[in-house]
Amino acid sequence: MKILVGEEDGFNIKLAEMLDIDLIPLTSKTYKDGEVCPRIHANKKSIERKKLLLCLRKTPDENPNDYLNRFLFTAGALKKEAANILAVMPYLVYARQDKDFLKGGNEFEPISIEIMLESLGTYVHGLLTFNSHFEREQKVITKYAVPIHNLDAFNVFGKKLREIKDLVIIAPDKGMKPLAEKIARKHECEFDYLEKSRNADNGEIVFADKDFKIEGKNVVTLDDMISTGGTMIKGIKHLKKYNPANIYAMAVHGAFTPGAYEQLKAVCTDVFFTDTLKSDKSKVSVVEYLAAYIRKTEPLGIGL
Ligand code: R5P
Repeated sequence: MKILVGEEDGFNIKLAEMLDIDLIPLTSKTYKDGEVCPRIHANKKSIERKKLLLCLRKTPDENPNDYLNRFLFTAGALKKEAANILAVMPYLVYARQDKDFLKGGNEFEPISIEIMLESLGTYVHGLLTFNSHFEREQKVITKYAVPIHNLDAFNVFGKKLREIKDLVIIAPDKGMKPLAEKIARKHECEFDYLEKSRNADNGEIVFADKDFKIEGKNVVTLDDMISTGGTMIKGIKHLKKYNPANIYAMAVHGAFTPGAYEQLKAVCTDVFFTDTLKSDKSKVSVVEYLAAYIRKTEPLGIGL
């Protein structure tokens, strides 16, 4: 028998329903000094030698360290009783630091994702996530201490994209061009990418002029995540010079910093992002895709 452990929110209730398994609720408290402490609302015996799915989503304003600690402490407590645990961390924290960006010399940095996964790997046997920052393809990544099932949440935007006529997909930079091309092929529409670079003096993002053929079209500009919204807002303002009918912002992870969603919404027609992070503004859910993936692939024997 398999059991889902996670907060009793719409996402987990639906995930448990779709997998036809029980949901053990999880809550968390924060002490006055800032330390976090999760609480698993079940008798230990009920999870003894069971295969568990642990799904915990971050809110955009939760400190990633608090979130990670909640995850680690819960996984550690469950591991003492369970047969094995498959972790679902829909937005993978610390994925941006997947290299030592100082590249040697007299200073060096941790490869945070590597160390984080070594810690997590003490307790869990596999990890499911969406669009990790370091891997664009949907695949199982085995180079870290925990196998990572990296799912591509752009697959869940199909319905939204089909609703938009005269569509042109624009990637925010050359690196995302293959993704824009793949989505454009699927939806039989045009695509292009923004020529993004950084000003050498102040590090600011700049977009070069280009022969964008988007006049009167409905443009969707996409990215893996939105944080401050700075990249999208600048890109959208640049694209507006080419007179599109509408511009929509689309991203997997809505990791908005305070005020970022509102600022972005003010410069475009609409903003679409998934529920990999908790938000009442998300219009697209990954939960069905996640459940179907677990059912189909049975990652580490924890599927159904
Ligand atoms: C960058 O590598 C990412 O793909 C996003 O473009 C970036 O994280 C977005 O951040 P912000 O919303 O703060 O510009």
